[in-house]
Amino acid sequence: MRLTSLFSVALAATTALAFPYTKSATRDSNTTVGPENGHLVIVGGNLKSEAIYQRIISLAGGYNASIVVVPTAGGEASYDQNFSTAITFRELGATNVTVLHTYDPAVADTDDFVAPLKSANAIFFGGGRQWRLVDAYAGTKTETAFNEVLGRGGVISGSSAGASIIGSFLARGDTSGNDILVGDHTVGFGYLKNAAIDQHVLVRNRHFDMFQILEVQPELLGIAIDEDTAVVVHGNDAEIVGSTYALIYDGGFWSRDGSGGKYDLPEKKFYFLKAGDKYDLGARKVVETEATGGDEL
Ligand SMILES: *[C@@H]1O[C@H](CO)[C@@H](O)[C@H](O)[C@H]1NC(C)=O
Ligand SMILES: *[C@@H]1O[C@H](CO)[C@@H](O)[C@H](O)[C@H]1NC(C)=O
Ligand SMILES: *[C@@H]1O[C@H](CO)[C@@H](O)[C@H](O)[C@H]1NC(C)=O
Ligand SMILES: *[C@@H]1O[C@H](CO)[C@@H](O)[C@H](O)[C@H]1NC(C)=O
Repeated sequence: MRLTSLFSVALAATTALAFPYTKSATRDSNTTVGPENGHLVIVGGNLKSEAIYQRIISLAGGYNASIVVVPTAGGEASYDQNFSTAITFRELGATNVTVLHTYDPAVADTDDFVAPLKSANAIFFGGGRQWRLVDAYAGTKTETAFNEVLGRGGVISGSSAGASIIGSFLARGDTSGNDILVGDHTVGFGYLKNAAIDQHVLVRNRHFDMFQILEVQPELLGIAIDEDTAVVVHGNDAEIVGSTYALIYDGGFWSRDGSGGKYDLPEKKFYFLKAGDKYDLGARKVVETEATGGDEL
């Protein structure tokens, strides 16, 4: 054991020089920026927890808030008002849920299409392939209207592909498949700036995939969220909600029990946050609270 930990320390010392993205410059940068107004609710796929749905509803203003569900990432031939996520919101008490969909950017650029967004309090992007959202909405009046929802203090939420689209860097955006991290679409809608967002991370064994992005763009903050777990963001304040974990790739390391030296791959550091944990996206640091306190092991 002792030999192993000595080796780890030596490895840490040498690889810190070989891998520039682990330098403290990355950690100290103040570049991650969440929305000044409104909230993001970013879900790592397979959304089941009523608590997460209810968080979206309450941040939107309550059961009468106007919630617009965008299923476009899903790639079905067509969608009606009974898209599954819309039904779930209704079953949980939301009274005004609209499904909004097109694949055609010319349609997305019309006032008629955009109309439901003008009074929307929340957007929810469903799962599928994130590039479909870019191809349909990027640069259109619809994209502008999405931004205005946040500007008015509303909510942008999404799960799976709908989580990745929230980042400024579009993780897994390739049209040929979801296993290419840096693909032919790399620009997300950027409601969370200077960040890449991955999803389904534990269930699909994706823990190390984020480094393919950070090798190309080391200044980004990586956030990889597991299923049925959300990161709720306002400004640079983030909080974890839901049943498993969000993984943070900020070049640093943090652990609940205060340990930190026992890292076998120092150039590939990440750590886990769970429900109740808080993170400062600007300082790129865990906010120590009672919830993050150690278990005194
Ligand atoms: C980051 O921003 C905070 C307040 O916004 C400031 O106090 C701090 O000095 C900044 N840190 C760096 C490294 O710029
Ligand atoms: C929703 O609106 C209805 C009337 O349209 C009103 O009776 C009800 O109290 C409202 N509910 C909430 C939670 O504001
Ligand atoms: C959606 O479901 C409701 C309730 O079951 C039904 O009345 C309505 O016709 C359905 N709408 C569509 C477009 O299928
Ligand atoms: C429901 O939401 C739509 C779309 O935002 C909006 O146009 C409509 O006025 C809302 N209806 C009610 C009763 O608030």
